[in-house]
This record gives sequence, C-alpha cells and structure tokens, in this order.
Amino acid sequence: MEPIIDIHCHIMPGVDDGSGDMATSLEMLRIAEKNGITHMILTPHHKPMHHNVSPEHNVLYRKKLQEAASAEGIKIKLFSGNEIYYSDETMDELEQGKICSLAGSDYVLVEFHPTNPFSAIQNAANRVQAYGYRPIIAHVERYSDIVSHPSRVQDLIDMGCLIQVNASSVMGKYGFGIGHFTKKLLKEKVVHFVATDAHDAKKRAPEIADCRSFVERKIGQDYAKEIFLLNAISVIRNEEI
Ligand SMILES: [Fe+2]
Repeated sequence: MEPIIDIHCHIMPGVDDGSGDMATSLEMLRIAEKNGITHMILTPHHKPMHHNVSPEHNVLYRKKLQEAASAEGIKIKLFSGNEIYYSDETMDELEQGKICSLAGSDYVLVEFHPTNPFSAIQNAANRVQAYGYRPIIAHVERYSDIVSHPSRVQDLIDMGCLIQVNASSVMGKYGFGIGHFTKKLLKEKVVHFVATDAHDAKKRAPEIADCRSFVERKIGQDYAKEIFLLNAISVIRNEEI
C-alpha cells in the first residue's frame, strides 16, 4: 500500500469535538493505519471564544497519544498542529505562540464559516501571508461563495494559498453536489492536499484509501502521490510547495 500523510484530523482525545477518549483515538489510529496512513498532523480546533488546547498541552497530549499508540504496536508518527478558525485575533495569537502551525512549519491550516463572503477569505489569506505564514485552506468545498464560483479556487492559489479537500467529500459522503465539486477540482489539479478531517471511529473515521484509489484511477498516480504524500512531506520539512 502506498504511504499517505494526513495533515488534518481530530484524533487528539478530549480537546475538541473529535475523539472523546484515548480508546477512540487508538481505534481511529488503527483505522488510519489500515488506510495506509504513516504520519498524521493532529489539528484540534482553535476557535475564537472557545477553551482551546494550548500549544504546551497540544505537544504533551500528542506525546501521550504517541506513547499509547506505540504500546499498541501502531507505527503512525504524530505531529502537532491546529485547525484555525480565522478571526480578527488569529494573527496576534499566532504571533504570541498561542496557536500551533502544522508540524512547526510556516504552513497553517485555516478554516472559515461556510457562508463567509469570498472577500473575507481573501483578506484573511492576505493577512496570514503578510505575517510570513503559508495558508492552507481547510476543506475548500465547504464555503458556499467558492462552491458557487469554482474559479475562485485558482484565485486563491494565485494569491499563494494551498488547497485542502476532505476525502469523504470526494467520495460523496456529503452529497452529490459536494462530490461533483471536489472531483472537478481534482481533475483540474487545483488541490494540494486530501485529508481525512476525521472526528471519530465511525461516521467520520480516518478513511482515505478509497479516495486515493479513485484519484490514481481517474487522474493519475503521480498527482495522487503529490496530494496524498509529497506535499505533506514538504509541509513537515517546511519546504516550498
Ligand atoms: Fe477539521
């Protein structure tokens, strides 16, 4: 099985609406390993006006999960990160070290409200870059103002953004419309990362192997390798994509 790196998941136990306990986290890691995932960046939600996990605890809990996983014979290597719900406070918090970038790199995973206007997403992306970070737009298929104007994905890329879609969206779990939109993006090769955005071991489990097979079959092995593995390696190494 070809290796896969997941840059977006909620497997860290007890910190957000993802895994609620260590047993669930381990079950999720077992599913991830069966799917060919070898490395994962843990991205608990960081939201305004929420009790967010601090970077210190993010590292501590990641190490605890890594130890528990190793004791179970799970070989997946874990890294720290956050999924940042963009707000007016985001840049100050990033600068003050209150949020984790992805694996300590200059790349940050940023999400928005689904009905945010495109101009707000552009402004946020500009601001993130002005501070020297590289924005990865989390599940781009979720923003109505982009789904209704697919060419805006390329506009974001032209601005310097990178694009992430969820494997479950591609495989049609969120309906035909979202499935069609994400497949169109893949065919146009405007996706940089496919991730699981896993939240549990059941309905939102870290299933990604079927999506990788789909991309290999329909678009090509080289592109699949890029968006399921190589771009994520660049993130972890903090290299240019
Ligand atoms: Fe997420």
